Amino acid sequence: MRVASFTLPLASAIATVAARSIGAGCQALKQPLGDAVFSRGTTVYNYESSNFWSNTEILSPGCVFRPQSASQLAEGLEALVGANAEFAVRGGGHMGIRGSNNINGGVLVVMSNLTTMELKEDKSILSVGPAYRWADVYAFLGKSNLTAAGGRLGPVGVPGLLLAGGVNFYGNQVGFAADTVINYEVVLGDGSIVEANKTSNSDLFWALKGGSSNFGLVTRFDLQTIRSSKVWAGTWTVAAEYIDRFLAATAEFASDIYDPKTHVVPALVPGDSTLASVILFYDSETENYPEILKPFTDIPAISNTMGFKTVAEFAAETGEMVVDGINDVFVAGTVKGTTYKELHQGISIINTTFFNQLPKLYKQIPSANISTIQLDWQPIGADWMKASEQAGGNALGLNSSKVYLCYAEVVEWIGSAYDGIVADWIEETTYAINNATLKAGLYDKFNYMGDSAGFQSIFPGYGEKNHQKLISIAQKYDPHGVFQTLMPGGFKVY
Ligand SMILES: Cc1cc2nc3c(=O)[nH]c(=O)nc-3n(C[C@H](O)[C@H](O)[C@H](O)COP(=O)(O)OP(=O)(O)OC[C@H]3O[C@@H](n4cnc5c(N)ncnc54)[C@H](O)[C@@H]3O)c2cc1C
Ligand SMILES: *[C@@H]1O[C@H](CO)[C@@H](O)[C@H](O)[C@H]1NC(C)=O
Ligand SMILES: *[C@@H]1O[C@H](CO)[C@@H](O)[C@H](O)[C@H]1NC(C)=O
Ligand SMILES: *[C@@H]1O[C@H](CO)[C@@H](O)[C@H](O)[C@H]1NC(C)=O
Ligand SMILES: *[C@@H]1O[C@H](CO)[C@@H](O)[C@H](O)[C@H]1NC(C)=O
Ligand SMILES: *[C@@H]1O[C@H](CO)[C@@H](O)[C@H](O)[C@H]1NC(C)=O
Ligand SMILES: *[C@@H]1O[C@H](CO)[C@@H](O)[C@H](O)[C@H]1NC(C)=O
Ligand SMILES: *[C@@H]1O[C@H](CO)[C@@H](O)[C@H](O)[C@H]1NC(C)=O
Repeated sequence: MRVASFTLPLASAIATVAARSIGAGCQALKQPLGDAVFSRGTTVYNYESSNFWSNTEILSPGCVFRPQSASQLAEGLEALVGANAEFAVRGGGHMGIRGSNNINGGVLVVMSNLTTMELKEDKSILSVGPAYRWADVYAFLGKSNLTAAGGRLGPVGVPGLLLAGGVNFYGNQVGFAADTVINYEVVLGDGSIVEANKTSNSDLFWALKGGSSNFGLVTRFDLQTIRSSKVWAGTWTVAAEYIDRFLAATAEFASDIYDPKTHVVPALVPGDSTLASVILFYDSETENYPEILKPFTDIPAISNTMGFKTVAEFAAETGEMVVDGINDVFVAGTVKGTTYKELHQGISIINTTFFNQLPKLYKQIPSANISTIQLDWQPIGADWMKASEQAGGNALGLNSSKVYLCYAEVVEWIGSAYDGIVADWIEETTYAINNATLKAGLYDKFNYMGDSAGFQSIFPGYGEKNHQKLISIAQKYDPHGVFQTLMPGGFKVY
């Protein structure tokens, strides 16, 4: 009874606020910023409201707000806050979680026209706007024999990746992609525009490296460039009979990442016959088949695409693996260890639990409606974390005394009719994996945001201290909680 009498008025109050605020946002924007606001039925609305990677992200916003500049975005944000109106923000549109970057009825803010793309004079710093995908960045920098630490697949968006951390080809040399950002231009909840860097708003600078959309809207990232003409890279795919050897190679690499020029993404792809495929990257324009990658390259390949190529070419190649218009879920988890034995055991538990669960999924969804299933691992070792520390640190809270082996489960399917089945299956599977790794003493509560599902929590996995710090920085820069309440999408610190 107590519960009922408490929740009823609250629920109806929320319903009233929501009902009032939905149309209000589009109205409030139209007065000062009509040229940047697009109603249902317009060409721009149709384009922007469908410009998302997966079907899972498609909703029906009341209108689209496409600011032409940071100051226009700031003006719009003030109008939205004044009207107490809900909104969502989309950068590259690759966070495949319903409601994370889109909204029903409210205002969809899109970054498409914040298109800064400039090299500073000495070419060491790139200023880039949130309109871009990594393919655009690599193509632009490639003209000067430069590249940057960013997405490994070209279509992924710049802003979301940098705000999550950013697992990248150069991680063992530079840390997370976010660690290469030296300055952010940010629109705060009160409509002011600030810079955040080591000397100015340094707490906000730290929080943006992993803290996502909890503090403000980033309108420009200034990031360090990396000299690169060509790299040795490709995918190496082996047959089912080599899976155990492939997983052993993954553990061997993870337990001793002695050559920081490397990056690997080992994955299992179940199907009629399971394939094991690894993205291999080596930062050299002359040396191929380096010693450290031999555990993989000594396994006979069914096919491989290894060769010297630019990062732009490689990200376009990996980008071809990205299928648009499917429904999707990504789930993240982590095991932690130091020795080969520990890491191999962690990999094996994840592998075995996942494959044991698969028949349950196949029983409920016809194979024609399963687009892709994948299980992959991302080792993050001492060099990576030390590079992060040297750059000034980030919010992710990893400790270089252990190797983090982050895993991701991916299911992509055709037909929203299967959404509920996949959601139940993947939650059950994830809990089964994590309970098993917990029992083995290998579990870590870090979930990499870029690979996480909506049901997972992120910030507790950064450690209690960092989580509290993020909460107080959000309160300092956004005392009215604009990014917690009016912008409901994405991962929130509280
Ligand atoms: C095919 C694929 C490949 C991937 N590869 C990698 C990889 O190699 N490395 C890696 O680390 N991750 C990778 N990811 C994960 C990826 O980093 C995240 O999905 C990330 O959120 C994508 O950024 P986006 O701009 O496209 O996202 P969006 O969906 O546009 O945004 C993500 C979140 O950030 C918010 N946001 C967007 N722009 C801003 C802004 N300017 N200011 C404040 N908040 C903002 C949004 O509201 C949303 O909550 C991959 C994902 C996919 C689907
Ligand atoms: C805004 O972005 C859209 C989509 O990318 C593009 O077609 C349009 O030309 C841009 N407009 C301006 C003024 O930059
Ligand atoms: C880029 O590097 C290649 C190979 O090292 C060199 O031939 C080319 O001249 C360089 N181009 C620029 C613009 O520096
Ligand atoms: C840091 O921010 C201040 C403004 O607050 C700016 O003057 C300075 O140039 C910024 N530093 C960097 C490295 O961008
Ligand atoms: C991984 O799972 C597959 C399929 O169940 C199994 O054949 C293989 O032996 C497992 N390998 C390890 C190392 O767990
Ligand atoms: C990292 O872990 C080590 C060993 O457990 C511990 O001594 C150290 O304090 C930790 N560092 C941080 C920054 O938490
Ligand atoms: C299954 O996929 C096919 C296309 O492969 C599609 O036409 C069909 O609608 C899907 N089934 C459901 C129930 O959505
Ligand atoms: C273990 O499983 C239970 C339910 O099955 C779940 O609630 C819990 O979160 C799981 N533990 C971990 C660490 O995932």
